Amino acid sequence: MSKYIVTGGTPLNGRVKISGMKNAAGAVIFGCLVSGGEYTIDNVPDIGDVSVAIELLRSVGAVAEWIAPDKLRINTENVTDVRPPDELVGKIRSSYYMAGAMLARFGHVGIGMPGGCDFGSRPIDQHIKAFEQLGAVVTFGENGLAADGRLTGTEIYFDCVTVGGTMNAMLAACTADGMTVIANAAREPHVVDLANFLNTCGARISGAGTNVIKIRGVPSLHGAEYRILPDMIEAGMYMVAAAATGGCICVESVIPKHLEAVTAKLTEMGATVDELDDAIIVSGDKQLKATKIKTQPYPGFPTDMQPLIAVLMSISRGTGTIQETIYDNRFRYSEELRRMGANVRVNGKSAEITGVPSLHGASVRAVDLRAGAAMIVAALSAEGQTEIDDIYHIERGYVMPVEKFTSLGADIRRIG
Ligand code: EPU
Repeated sequence: MSKYIVTGGTPLNGRVKISGMKNAAGAVIFGCLVSGGEYTIDNVPDIGDVSVAIELLRSVGAVAEWIAPDKLRINTENVTDVRPPDELVGKIRSSYYMAGAMLARFGHVGIGMPGGCDFGSRPIDQHIKAFEQLGAVVTFGENGLAADGRLTGTEIYFDCVTVGGTMNAMLAACTADGMTVIANAAREPHVVDLANFLNTCGARISGAGTNVIKIRGVPSLHGAEYRILPDMIEAGMYMVAAAATGGCICVESVIPKHLEAVTAKLTEMGATVDELDDAIIVSGDKQLKATKIKTQPYPGFPTDMQPLIAVLMSISRGTGTIQETIYDNRFRYSEELRRMGANVRVNGKSAEITGVPSLHGASVRAVDLRAGAAMIVAALSAEGQTEIDDIYHIERGYVMPVEKFTSLGADIRRIG
């Protein structure tokens, strides 16, 4: 089994370039299925989840190939309405975007259950509701989802703010007859990225980034060239790493506005954060102090940064709290942090963390993707050596973490 061996205690310093956004890439890649065409997608992160997305595209007859280290050529002219293999669909969460895209293109789709990280139940009832309101007849069970019907513009009100539901509704609605209005839409930058991509392909979507999105249906989309936005969650990992190790990192190729909630909390905790046009410099030159975090949909504090902020609180002065409002069970990493000496007490969807002077090396697991990122940063801040197992979770979502951390002076190697 592959693992990372990390020896901590060295402040990280230097510059790191952020890759394209994982959670936009999945939607944009499957967005190429809405209509047949030739697409060139730039700034695609070369990560495990994207490799699976490429396999899924190929499984339905598309051509998908890397033409540069971060550029994909996709041709979806010869795609057919075959059911993608359940085993591949079950490997990644973003596979559910095939449902909206193929329903739009063929008027029917059959697809298994999506995968992704285990945070307790992750229902897709809002996706189904959106397809039904657009006019599809949907059946849903343990074998996945089947949807049939010619789609017509409608009003969709989401009962909760859902990133996946909003993007699937956009994919399905962009070639429906007439106007669709999505109310209580998610406002995440990846929602805006998907809208911009679809508009580049000829869709007529307005309001992405607000909670009301309007989609005027067009007969079909066409191929295009598109560049994916930078990954704010990857950027957040390096920002936290600077604060946790007492170093100074210039996080480059980012959109600082996307990171305002993270910047605000790091500043509150005592880190120094400077925003430039397309970079953020974080230095952890002072003792950090505890804070309170409540995860919320964008522009609130992102749930995907929650495990990383827990690491910081573990080595801050005082007692802080984290309230997780998005998922039922996103504290599975707390047991791993405790192995490193952290004082974390979880009670349902909240955690109370009392800082200790420093963490110490231990054998830990990446229990999911963002928890794995938190283990790397915890290990880099800790005294001694840490072994991180189950790193396939980390490599599903981060581009070359070993190389990027090494370039900042970290002692991290991959074995096995
Ligand atoms: N929800 C429902 N019904 C639905 C859809 C969602 O009840 O039909 C609930 C979920 O159970 C959850 C909340 O609504 O409690 C938010 O879920 P959302 O749909 O927004 O999340 P998602 O689409 O499943 C995406 C990202 C996640 C990220 C969330 C929130 C992808 C592939 N995944 O998930 O990313 O945490 O949005 O921002 O885009 C990660 O990258 O590590 C990750 C987990």
